[in-house]
Amino acid sequence: MTTHRTHLHLRAAGTSLLLELADDLLPVVRHWGSDLGELTEDELASLALASRVAINDSPFDRADQVAILPEHARAWIGRPGVEGSRGGRGWSPAFRTTGAPAPGVHRLADGTQRVVVQARDEKAYLAVELEIELHPGGLLRTRATLTNTGEEVYDLGAVRTTLPVPEHADELLDFTGRHTMERAPQRQAFTAGAHSREVRTGRTGLDAVHLLCAGESGFGFGHGEVWAVQLGWSGNQVTYAERQYNGSRVLGAGELLEHGEVRLAGGQGTTTPWMYAAHGTGLDEVAARFHAWLRTRPQHPIRPRPVTLNNWEATYFDHSLPRLTALVDRAARVGAERFVLDDGWFGGRRDDTTGLGDWVVSPDVWPQGLDPLVDHVHAAGLEFGLWVEPEMVSADSDLARAHPEWIFSAGGRRGLESRQQHVLDLGHPGAYAHVRDQLLALLDRYDIAYLKWDHNRYLNDAGHTPGGEPGVRAHTLAAYRLMDELLAAHPGLEIESCAGGGGRVDLGVLDRAVRVWASDCIDPLERQQIQRGTFLLVPPELVGTHVASGRSHTTGRRHDLDFRASTALWGHLGIEWDLTTCTEEELVELATWVAFHREHRGLLHTGRVVNGDHHDEGTWVHGVVAQDASEALFEVALLRRSATTGPHRVRLPGLEPERRYRVCLERPGRPPLEAGRGVVPWAVEGITLPGRALAQVGLPMQPVDPEHSQLWRVLAADLC
Ligand code: GLA
Repeated sequence: MTTHRTHLHLRAAGTSLLLELADDLLPVVRHWGSDLGELTEDELASLALASRVAINDSPFDRADQVAILPEHARAWIGRPGVEGSRGGRGWSPAFRTTGAPAPGVHRLADGTQRVVVQARDEKAYLAVELEIELHPGGLLRTRATLTNTGEEVYDLGAVRTTLPVPEHADELLDFTGRHTMERAPQRQAFTAGAHSREVRTGRTGLDAVHLLCAGESGFGFGHGEVWAVQLGWSGNQVTYAERQYNGSRVLGAGELLEHGEVRLAGGQGTTTPWMYAAHGTGLDEVAARFHAWLRTRPQHPIRPRPVTLNNWEATYFDHSLPRLTALVDRAARVGAERFVLDDGWFGGRRDDTTGLGDWVVSPDVWPQGLDPLVDHVHAAGLEFGLWVEPEMVSADSDLARAHPEWIFSAGGRRGLESRQQHVLDLGHPGAYAHVRDQLLALLDRYDIAYLKWDHNRYLNDAGHTPGGEPGVRAHTLAAYRLMDELLAAHPGLEIESCAGGGGRVDLGVLDRAVRVWASDCIDPLERQQIQRGTFLLVPPELVGTHVASGRSHTTGRRHDLDFRASTALWGHLGIEWDLTTCTEEELVELATWVAFHREHRGLLHTGRVVNGDHHDEGTWVHGVVAQDASEALFEVALLRRSATTGPHRVRLPGLEPERRYRVCLERPGRPPLEAGRGVVPWAVEGITLPGRALAQVGLPMQPVDPEHSQLWRVLAADLC
């Protein structure tokens, strides 16, 4: 039988994807990387041919045809795309594409190029549909739907998609972390075997992989080719980089299923979460592709992100009305636009041992309901937001007493307690309806603009009662559905995704949430790293960044207000500090920073995030450049002193080389510098230089103490 091959070339924003389609093979990526330019059909075929290596005796020595859904039957020797069986049969499918004519590229209304391939294995009684999309911003995504076409149940182990990366991608970067220290980067060589990041804790994780990147050795923010993937899913998952002896290297991801979690009845199918992928020269370009995609979705917030005051580190569980209204007044005075009442307002919740699951305003603490506070917040001109943790239940709660069977439990025993709480199995329709109805009642009763949706513990032993079957998948889907239902019932409502800090930051929850809480650590020194990592995936306007009190509640370090504020400035700004204890000077200074943020958030929340590859690891350069490169704001932070004396020359990435720019030192709340000892000359009146000179030569930074930073405002000279 002759094999018909066709080639599809998808191009967008500097990225090319060359797909080879054949009737005996699932789609093979012949190139994913830099734009190859306009190519004729003959050239595409030649390019595909050029990627074929010599065949010796064994097809397994070839690394030239890794399909997006890899199959052992086609000589793939790594992790297969499909795992599962029907009583031991049908575990090694060999799909043949179906349908004529061969699939083409469809252009969606938003400019996305989309390819859909259908294939079947008639012997294994399985069908698969692969969806491949390239967004106009260069972001690629793939997913698969597997259907059991037989009559007997198919026990599914996994469905994962992969994308190949070339041999010069020989270094890996991904992230790990813990409570109060999310997005810690880790780098290693891309050696033979699999670097596999597995999540079995039912949520994306404080130690989430975040982005799995493979790139040229030493790749940085602005140099070296990089390929990166992220699974848009908040439950159990695996993301991996796999390299074989035959030279093949892939990045892959998929949901991680427990035994028996998905059993496909005859005719039943299941769809994987999307695996998102981006290629770029340097990490900043990779991030720009994720940001472009997130920013062009219809649910992306377009109104300015309201500066938020959250009472958590200000009052914790002390919910006295006079104390909170005094805080609201101070919040209004410094320019906040939203007040969020955190944990402790409901049920018997006077500390973190009780009450979760009872989403009814506590009559003990709020005898007149939340009205006095909500009214006060609104009268002060702020929006009102509320903390909830809908997927959790305290053993000491009315809910747990009434419905112990709704608490996750595998093997007939209640699983381990963590933070004195258990997980409510939203896979139980009754549990789902209980939480939904209580939350809807609150949203109907009070004018609530925003829910901070927390998720403070792992899922372990997450068995669905009474049988104890694995329940993470159903729970994750139910949590998504619950968010969707609330958003549909209350258009304009905003949801923040929080999970003990930054434990649920992924493109699945970001289909619903318009803010992620990056970390419970608001120490600006730690936050520099946490935000740098978080911004690689999530654009700043979707990341909560707060100004905390002078002494960090999580690390005990003390920092001046200007470093706390200049670190928080970049994201969706908030304040988490008991402003009733502030001096007049502190309030004035804070108000200046809030005003500065409000003045510049249009740029900060739409521009391109850039990071400098600075030779001194203690000096960090970070900025946002307008999409048209007409203006920019940079932060130069001295995180650690260097063994050589400064001030260091700082190069500014992301500007237009030929354009001339005026650079000025910005000192919110402080007088301009005067010439003299310890002052770099350019900082007194600013300086004008072409973008090329700023990128290649740079400017010396104004000396600062360690754990301080400075802001540089950059404006195209033709606009000054
Ligand atoms: C988590 C969140 C915090 C706060 C507390 C409340 O730790 O990350 O911001 O809301 O829960 O219990």
